[in-house]
Amino acid sequence: MSIFETLTPAERARQLANPEGAVGVAVADWLNENNKEANAKLVESLSVEAGHHVLEVGFGNGRSVPIVMAQAPDVRYTGIDISPTMVAEASHFNTDLVAAGKASFHLTSADALSFGNDSFDRAFSIGVIHFWGEPLTSLSEIRRVLRSGGVMFMGCLAPKDAPDFAQREFGFYLRDASEWEALCRMAGFAVVDVQTVESDQVTPTGAPVKRNSIRIRARA
Ligand SMILES: C[S@@+](CC[C@H](N)C(=O)[O-])C[C@H]1O[C@@H](n2cnc3c(N)ncnc32)[C@H](O)[C@@H]1O
Repeated sequence: MSIFETLTPAERARQLANPEGAVGVAVADWLNENNKEANAKLVESLSVEAGHHVLEVGFGNGRSVPIVMAQAPDVRYTGIDISPTMVAEASHFNTDLVAAGKASFHLTSADALSFGNDSFDRAFSIGVIHFWGEPLTSLSEIRRVLRSGGVMFMGCLAPKDAPDFAQREFGFYLRDASEWEALCRMAGFAVVDVQTVESDQVTPTGAPVKRNSIRIRARA
């Protein structure tokens, strides 16, 4: 039985939104194991080039970092997350990259970034933005820290056929493609492409299921 299966819908939502303690670490492992191929594809489609500085919003246990670094030479990675448990976990998993000054992990929220304008060439986020009740502030912050021409790529749950725990009462704000497109344009992105895509996922009991996800690609 997976750790996720033992939790109530409210606990599942809480541990996904802000993983905490040993249960949070186990949930992050479970999540990453189930989504690792889809996550790798998303990182690969960022078109990271040599020397790029990449921002990840909501890195969870930090398993995407080596995939980012493998995309091109001399890549720098900066991640932010609101969970102290995940900052510790991701920093530990990527100890060598942190020691080499190639990766850093920051305990902060997307709605108040401490980075200067035009700091990043690429920004991405997986399974995070559906927790944002007021996403415009965070999207505007990400646009601000991306250089002109920089690319943002995000994936999150779509409203159609969402899992049972992805409810407003548990802190999920599911929006369709047209709502995300309007928000990205309001945040100042010049080119915005939002698609709803069907992908293979698993239920908390491990059964395969088709789910709809939102894929946002936007150019600053
Ligand atoms: C469902 S997990 C996804 C983790 C990872 N991206 C993955 O796919 O394995 C969501 C992560 O986003 C973080 N998070 C939620 N809201 C955030 C915010 N406003 N700013 C930064 N991180 C946030 C949570 O702490 C959690 O680690």
